[in-house]
Formats: sequence, structure tokens, C-alpha cells
Amino acid sequence: HKDLLDVSDLSTGDVERIFEAADSFLEINRRPVKKVPTLKGRSVVLFFAEPSTRTKTSFDMAAKRLSADSFSLSKSMSSLTKGESLKDTVLTLQAMNPDAIVMRHGVSGAAQFIAERLNCSVINAGDGWHAHPTQALLDAVTLRRAWSGDFGGKTLLILGDIAHSRVARSNVNLLTRLGVNVRLCAPRTLLPPKVETWPVEVYSDLNKAVKDVDAVMCLRLQLERQQDGLLPSLREYSREYGLGKRHLLNAHGGAVVLHPGPINRGVEIASELADMGESLILDQVESGVATRMALLFLFLTRKDQGGERV
Ligand code: CP
Repeated sequence: HKDLLDVSDLSTGDVERIFEAADSFLEINRRPVKKVPTLKGRSVVLFFAEPSTRTKTSFDMAAKRLSADSFSLSKSMSSLTKGESLKDTVLTLQAMNPDAIVMRHGVSGAAQFIAERLNCSVINAGDGWHAHPTQALLDAVTLRRAWSGDFGGKTLLILGDIAHSRVARSNVNLLTRLGVNVRLCAPRTLLPPKVETWPVEVYSDLNKAVKDVDAVMCLRLQLERQQDGLLPSLREYSREYGLGKRHLLNAHGGAVVLHPGPINRGVEIASELADMGESLILDQVESGVATRMALLFLFLTRKDQGGERV
């Protein structure tokens, strides 16, 4: 493939190759000397039109650890602020001959819009509510390690603002394909339209939703994407849907907790739980660098890029 717009672009074989490469890079990243020459001479533009800590930094680190050159552009520092269009911005970036553009944008479909207009690889780093494929892949890499490689029969609860979450959409898509039973739990106002067509079980009561799960993924309330009046109040939300230690008593023994970040302690997750042994939140960040190294490696060494891979 030229582009990664969502996890549905990937076959089961592609996902397996990403897992294997990510595992190797995780080991390399734990060494004192982490840099390898694999992508020397390649270049990657990181074009982030929405804020990011984890995704942008980990792509930057991934590129540098593979010896590729990375160049960053944010919306506020770009000529988008002078009225230049997205199309002209990305055509300008492409004229500099990068091998890939990693883009985050607030509009669903923005990654596809640019991928159709560019010859270089486009990797979607999150587009509106639509998709966040690299987050879903790093979450799967993290769970695969926690579950010793076996997704079959495991149950994951995704809890919180699912309506506005590209992370939930990509994770449901990928993890159900891998054999995970996915449950969603949210107040009705934070469930997506047509949720009944998703391959999931839907709950509104957290105490029931958490029973016998193997993992809980908490999501941030995306207040920046919500109109007034959609929410329960923050206090009501955290009382009914904030994950605490007590909820895990009803989960399977050894159940783990994930969160894509950024976290709001005391709102969607109790602060003490975020720091406990059950929490894989920082493991997700570590997996994120390795997973993005795997993706840059696989996309930039495709056969049509002069490499050996398909
Ligand atoms: N999980 C995630 O996408 O985090 P950032 O917004 O910090 O990149």
C-alpha cells in the first residue's frame, strides 16, 4: 500500500508483520544505543494541524532512530494561517520530495483527501472523529504483549466519549478482527449514531460493563468537539463513568487498564489507578515509538520505493 488511512487498509498478514517489526524495535529501543541506519537518506514530514504530544513526538523519535530525516510543521506556524488551502499546503510539501507525510487534521477524511493528491506515502495520525490507525496498532501491540500474543476470547471494555473518538473507531475495527470481544460503555449522549451496527456490546451501566473483562480502555472527554448541552456535567460523568480501583474488582484477575492519552485524572480515570501496576498507559507510549518505527520501516521500504517489501 502507498498510504495508511485506517486499519481497514491492512490485511491480517500486514498486521502480523507490523507486530513482529514492532516487537523487534521495542527490543532495540531498550538498548543504550538505539539508532539504526535502516532509513538513512529517507525523509518524513510531520504535519500536525491539531495539537499532539505522543503521536508527533513518537513519530519524530521513530524516524530519527531509523536515521530518516524528519521535518515538523504545525498549523499555527504554517501558511494555512495566511489563507493557503490544505491542498496547496500538501502539494508544496510534496514538491520537496519527502518519502512520507504523517498528518493529523481536525476534519474527518482529510488524510484521504491528501492521499488522493500526493505520490508519497500518507500516514494518518488522526483525522477528526474518523480514524487513528497508528494508535489502534500500538494499543494492539501493547495488549498482545500483556496477553502473551493471544487475543482470542479476551474481552476489552472501551469506556467514555466514544461518539467523538477516532481511537475507539480504529480500535473496534482492528481488535474485533483479531478476535477480541469489545464492549462499549458511555452515557447515551456520548455513544455514536448507529452504534447498533457496530460489532460490539453496548452498556450504559459501568458496573455491569466491567464484569469479567480482561482490559478497560478509558477515553478522554473531547470537550473541544462537543456542543453545549451534550454532556452530563463533569461531576456526574466522573461519578457514573470514571474508572476507579473498585470497578476492577469485578473484572478478571490480571485485568489491565489502557488510555490513549492525554488523561484527565479524576475525570475519566482515578489518579491512583493511572499510576498502579494494572495501568499500561506508559507501556502504550513505549509501544507507540516501536509501532511507528515498524510502520515507517514497512512503508518506506516498499518495493515501489526501491525496497524489498510489498
Ligand atoms: N493518543 C494521542 O493521539 O495522543 P496525542 O494527541 O498526544 O498525540
